[in-house]
Amino acid sequence: MTSYKMNETSLKKALSKINIGGLRYFDSIGSTNDEALAWAASGAKDFSIVIADEQTRGRGRLNRTWHTPKGSALALSIILRPAASALPHLSRTVGLAALAIFDSLLNIGLVPKIKWPNDMLLNNKKTAGILVESVWSGSEVDSLVIGIGMNVYKASTPPNDALKFPATSIEDELGKEPPAREEIGRDILTSLMLWREKMISDEIIKTWEERLAFRGWQVQITSNGEIANTGILDGLESDGSLRLQDENGQPAIVRFGDVSLRPTA
Ligand code: ATP
Ligand code: BTN
Repeated sequence: MTSYKMNETSLKKALSKINIGGLRYFDSIGSTNDEALAWAASGAKDFSIVIADEQTRGRGRLNRTWHTPKGSALALSIILRPAASALPHLSRTVGLAALAIFDSLLNIGLVPKIKWPNDMLLNNKKTAGILVESVWSGSEVDSLVIGIGMNVYKASTPPNDALKFPATSIEDELGKEPPAREEIGRDILTSLMLWREKMISDEIIKTWEERLAFRGWQVQITSNGEIANTGILDGLESDGSLRLQDENGQPAIVRFGDVSLRPTA
C-alpha cells in the first residue's frame, strides 16, 4: 500500500503561493480541530491552518470517531474570521468547504458528489467529511473552524464492517497513485479562498445544489435513529438547509443537525 511522509518543509513549499494567516503542522495530534479551536480562541489570524499526518482522536459530528491513520490521510483545519457581511450566511460554511473539496477532486480527474450535509462521495462511497465548529464571543461568532478529513491513500479507509456508510479513498478510485497530500491540501485552500468571496452570493447555493448526491431520488432522513422525513431530494434553501418534496408534492425543509441522509430507492 502506498503512503508518503508529509513534513513541515514539503507543506510550506506546497502552500508558499497561498496567502495563509499561519501554519501549524503536527506529525501526530489528537484532533486538528481541537488545536485550531484553541488557536482561534487565542488570536489566530484569519485563514490560519492546522495540518497533521495522523490524528489519534479525530472527530466527526457528535464526537463520532474519524479515522486518520498516519501516512495516508489529509487532516486539515482552517480558521476563518468572518467579515461582518458574511455573518448572516455562516450556515453556508459547510457548503463552502464541500465546494472546495469537490473542486480539488475534479482537478485530479475524479467526479464526486456531495452527500448533504457534510460528506463527499466518490462512486457513492464516503471519501471525505467536514466538521464546522465555532468559537463564540458572547452571543457573536468570533471565528469558525472548518475541519476536513480526506482519505487519500488506501490505508486511510477504515474497514467497511466498522462503518454505517461505505468508505473509499482517492487512491482506490483513481486506480493509481494520487497526488501528494500537500498538493491536494493546496488545491482545497485555493478553491476555498475563491468560494469564500462568493459567500453572500446565491451562486454558492446554486453550485452546491447542482453537485448534490441523490438529487431527484427518493431519500430518507433519520435523526436520533428515527425516520424524520422521507421524500424526493429537491434542492437547497438559501441558508443551505435541504429541501425535500413530500408525497403530497409539498416542500419539507431539513435543517442542519444530527441528521443522516440515505437513498431509499
Ligand atoms: P451519515 O449518516 O451522514 O454518514 P454518519 O453517522 O456517518 O452520518 P458522520 O458524522 O457524517 O456520521 O461521519 C462520522 C462517521 O464516519 C463515523 O461514525 C464513521 O462511521 C465514519 N468514518 C470514520 N472515519 C472515516 C473515514 N476515514 N472515512 C470514511 N468514513 C469514516
Ligand atoms: C464527519 O464526516 O463527521 C466529519 C469528519 C471530519 C474530520 C476532520 S479531520 C480534520 C478535522 N479534525 C477533526 O478532529 N475532525 C476534522
